[in-house]
Amino acid sequence: MRIEAIGCEPLLLARFNLENSRSLETYRRHGGYEALRKALTTMSPDDVINEVKKSALRGRGGAGFPTGTKWSFVPKDSPKPKYVVCNADESEPGTFKDRYLMERDPHMLIEGMLIAAYALGARTAYCYTRGEYKYLIDIMDQAIEEARAAGLVGERILGTDFSCEVYTHTGAGAYICGEETALLNSLEGLRGHPRMKPPFPAVAGLYGCPTVVNNVETLCAVPWIIMHGGDAYRSLGTEKSGGTKLWSVSGHVKYPGVYELPMGYDDMEKFIMEDCGGIPNGRKLKAVIPGGSSVYIMRAEDIIGKDVRMDYEGLVAAGSMVGSGGFIVMDDTVDIFESTKNLIEFYKHESCGWCTPCREGTDWLVKAFKRIARGEGRPEDAQLLLDLCDNIEGKSFCPLGDAAAWPIQSAIKRFPEDFKRHLLPLAEQERVPAVA
Ligand code: NAI
Ligand code: SF4
Repeated sequence: MRIEAIGCEPLLLARFNLENSRSLETYRRHGGYEALRKALTTMSPDDVINEVKKSALRGRGGAGFPTGTKWSFVPKDSPKPKYVVCNADESEPGTFKDRYLMERDPHMLIEGMLIAAYALGARTAYCYTRGEYKYLIDIMDQAIEEARAAGLVGERILGTDFSCEVYTHTGAGAYICGEETALLNSLEGLRGHPRMKPPFPAVAGLYGCPTVVNNVETLCAVPWIIMHGGDAYRSLGTEKSGGTKLWSVSGHVKYPGVYELPMGYDDMEKFIMEDCGGIPNGRKLKAVIPGGSSVYIMRAEDIIGKDVRMDYEGLVAAGSMVGSGGFIVMDDTVDIFESTKNLIEFYKHESCGWCTPCREGTDWLVKAFKRIARGEGRPEDAQLLLDLCDNIEGKSFCPLGDAAAWPIQSAIKRFPEDFKRHLLPLAEQERVPAVA
């Protein structure tokens, strides 16, 4: 596993390789909690929000919503308590960056949560972690205890008037609990079903109170922004997407790992072929899903020689999305029909069952994929799969429905030959080469 910054100084990965990187002592020796001190002693909550706005930091969980704008939606005059919730339910296939942030540098996250709480007027912050990351809860709890003992969590932090408690909470392994409103239900002890939006959590979130839900990586960027200024952060990336971004790279590359790149890194081909070591075993690049499984799959010809820019706008222009930065590389041995079948089985399993298009649609899709895989495919099945997706996309209650439809639609449209082969009678399929 390679962990490396490319094209920029490590910002999020700066302390990853230090001895005992997760301890308070190491964190403080390298400037840790100085951003919190600066915010509490020299900045008003509005100053902090303005600095985050200036930074052009955008939500790193997948949606890319501007963080400072989200914070500014929290009503200042509300008499209700306010909450900060860290979404550490990292469940998107191919995404494993938040896990490393919590494992290697938990205090960076705690400091980010505390600065957010100060900016928003919250006295309580929760870190909601997926059930499979149970071992990280122990790391986070230990870090919180260390911080509390040092006067950095709890009452009158750093001797100021600001008080904030930080708690961890584990989910039970449901993908849907990464959706922010399902997460809030789960945190309240309810079943993890999504809620209607609006109202957005910023206005009515945890227990109906104003709540900001931010991804781990988003909150980890906050101490650097406060220490160095929003403009400095923005200048590391592009005008619309400031700073750096973590990409968790898996699949057919020589060096899978977690890479920190400046936003707007301007050559995806170079990233795959040089920075990640290229495609092993003399094979060729066939496809990339750049942002976790819930985005459009890209063909090699959309990447090679195309100078694809790795930021929100650049990837949309190239026909996909940044999503969660789960970068899955596939070589020319991969049958895209088979890989797409895997994905839809995942979405069917994780559909919470609340709304009909997603619950029934993902089930029908799995049945159709299984029938085709048994050799009972018909030429009209590609259109049938697209029709089923069409009945899910934009018609489901939460983004999981779209997330299930998009990879299938793009796989059928961009890799028609892999589907056509499976739609032939079984005996004929064997005469057609599996690898394009
Ligand atoms: P969204 O676009 O609905 O919202 C983004 C954020 O902005 C939310 O926190 C929302 O509350 C806030 N927001 C948007 N408009 C607002 C308004 N007018 N007022 C106040 N707040 C507002 O997207 P969503 O549903 O939060 O996330 C979907 C993304 O999550 C997908 O792009 C997908 O890539 C990603 N995802 C990430 C996973 C992971 O493991 N990191 C897992 C599954 C999906
Ligand atoms: Fe549940 Fe799927 Fe409907 Fe979302 S789209 S509410 S996951 S059934």
